Amino acid sequence: MKRCYRGKAYRSYRIFTGRCLVSFGQLLHKSYFRAPKIIHLRKLDKIHPNFDVGGWLKTEKFVSLGAIVRKHIINPSKNVKKRIAIFASGSGSNAQKIMEYFKYNDQIEVALVLSNNPDAYVLQRADNFEVPTHIFDKHAFYKTDEVVDVLDRLHIDLVVLAGFLWLIPQNLLRKYPNKIINIHPALLPAYGGKGMYGDRVHQAILDAGDEESGITIHFVNEHFDEGEVIYQARFHIQPDDSLEVIKFKGQQLEHLHYPKIIENLLKKI
Ligand code: GRF
Repeated sequence: MKRCYRGKAYRSYRIFTGRCLVSFGQLLHKSYFRAPKIIHLRKLDKIHPNFDVGGWLKTEKFVSLGAIVRKHIINPSKNVKKRIAIFASGSGSNAQKIMEYFKYNDQIEVALVLSNNPDAYVLQRADNFEVPTHIFDKHAFYKTDEVVDVLDRLHIDLVVLAGFLWLIPQNLLRKYPNKIINIHPALLPAYGGKGMYGDRVHQAILDAGDEESGITIHFVNEHFDEGEVIYQARFHIQPDDSLEVIKFKGQQLEHLHYPKIIENLLKKI
């Protein structure tokens, strides 16, 4: 072993990781002592698959050796962010607010946006934030482990549904117990269940002549809108409020509270 491998940082890395020590030593040797001090991330990924370059790959093509050393040697656990995956089928205004909220957060990141709808505007929003996306179809979602595997590979900590219209299958529920949450534009259990989404909810509230409505953030189970409630916020409905006004009032509350609730949950995970 050459002298350069015996430094303090190298020894502490051996304590943290054991097995990929040799590969990292090779990497250090190859990239630091023989090559420029900037590493192409795709190459790094190939050099050793255990290097979690996913976070970097979102925004960078290259990474400096210093960043690798900080992330994997000096204090690997400190630098690992908690990771969110957002599922959405449509516009994604909530997804947008969540991505904005965590954009500069050094402990939490939106690692992936998934959709069953290849035309969903949320995919464009994800691109704007340089968040990777994954599109799947019904067969993949209900009959295979494709989606679970994608989430697993990216070390997702929390699954956030934001306007996602399909029921969550058992394999996903088992993989993320109490780690899948949803937001609903009404005060559950009122105006929830199969078929109650989008304007149908607001129209039903309007038809009922309610004086109050709100939003619900809840854990997801095998039924539509039935998991344990995490948080509710309310607003008053004026007699002349239109559907658009009710929708807007609800949206304001959703955008304000969903990112904060996500942050609080992740602090406990
Ligand atoms: C929101 O109203 C949310 O409550 C419901 O779906 C809607 C999604 O809206 N689950 P957007 O796509 O985030 O604008």
